[in-house]
Amino acid sequence: MSQTLEPAAAPLPWNRPLIGEDEIASVVDTLRSGWLTHGPKATRLEDAARERLGVEDAFAVTSCTAALHLAFLAADIGAGDEVITPSLTFCAALNAMRQVRARPVLVDVDPTTLCVTPEAVEAAITPLTRAITVMHYGGQMCDMRAFRRLADRHGLLLIEDAAHALHASRDGLPAGSTADLSTFSFYANKVAAAGEGGLLVGCGELVHRARLLGRHGIDSSAWQRHGKRNTADYEVSVPGLKYVMSDLTAALAVVQYDRLPEFTRRRADIAAAYTSGLAGLPGLSTPVVLPGVEHGWFLYAVLIDPDTAPLDRDQVAAALQERHQISTSVHFKPVHLLGPYRDMVHRPLPVTERAGARQLSLPCFPAMTDHDVDRVIRAVRELWA
Ligand SMILES: Cc1ncc(COP(=O)(O)O)c(C=O)c1O
Repeated sequence: MSQTLEPAAAPLPWNRPLIGEDEIASVVDTLRSGWLTHGPKATRLEDAARERLGVEDAFAVTSCTAALHLAFLAADIGAGDEVITPSLTFCAALNAMRQVRARPVLVDVDPTTLCVTPEAVEAAITPLTRAITVMHYGGQMCDMRAFRRLADRHGLLLIEDAAHALHASRDGLPAGSTADLSTFSFYANKVAAAGEGGLLVGCGELVHRARLLGRHGIDSSAWQRHGKRNTADYEVSVPGLKYVMSDLTAALAVVQYDRLPEFTRRRADIAAAYTSGLAGLPGLSTPVVLPGVEHGWFLYAVLIDPDTAPLDRDQVAAALQERHQISTSVHFKPVHLLGPYRDMVHRPLPVTERAGARQLSLPCFPAMTDHDVDRVIRAVRELWA
């Protein structure tokens, strides 16, 4: 007698970009245009960001890390300066601080939102503090009105690392619209994905300086000079770097950027399904969205309390992978537990360390089907059964 076997479920990744025919047509158009580096498509992306955020200027660059590096360089932050930042973040902002020889000062996060708070930051201000770098954890925004007031009161530069929040807002203020400088990411797993890529936006004078620094200190782009004046007719006004976004990347980024409202709606639907489907599981906390926040849902971040849940975070991740072929991720291993930053902690970071041990990011991306979402909910519930 032949036996009917259940077909094995296809692996469900933690994240996968949603690339459509418009993105493909835009890239092909750029390939056929003969212009591959920063040019018309990157300029369109900068215009779209300026318009959406109401900021004075925008510069499309190779990555969010590049945007952060340029932000510190443009603001002349360097040796002897302190920059206050969360430890529950990706290492990019701290690496950029170290490149300019500034000193990261790490603070704890709020246990509900996992974002930094103005109170924690204010307590860490010293006479050496030059800047505050906030990070909108997972797409939930920090309280930017309060941070703006705090920065102004102390004469500090305010930077938003908005890598997770290309399409989020709080109290009507979009991420990236309040700080002196803000940075976004188009990395392959971000809410608008172009493989790599970043944006630096904000105050006109600072972005202008960043543009010079990110273009070898040259006062015009190759595209601006092309066909109009001798391509060798340029001046180098500062010793800069090369951080411009190519038009090949921008061809993809500009279409993804336009689709953010559609993507965010789908991410929010998935998040709502998880929140109701996972309600009531002992030891598992689902994300809380504060009043006034339009969450960007880069992450659907749950916290698993090993004292009250049947499994700890790592056991849940392993069981989802091994038994159900469902991938998850962790955001983040706190930066102060990583190599060059181990000696930097001068205050306890209990919320950060607890989150670092308990946080798990479930798959939450617009290419997921309703069936995929149900599959994750059933798999998690089964582990708790
Ligand atoms: C909070 C945060 N900032 C910055 C970055 C760096 O982005 P990119 O890869 O575009 O340099 C990341 C990347 O994951 C991130 O999560």
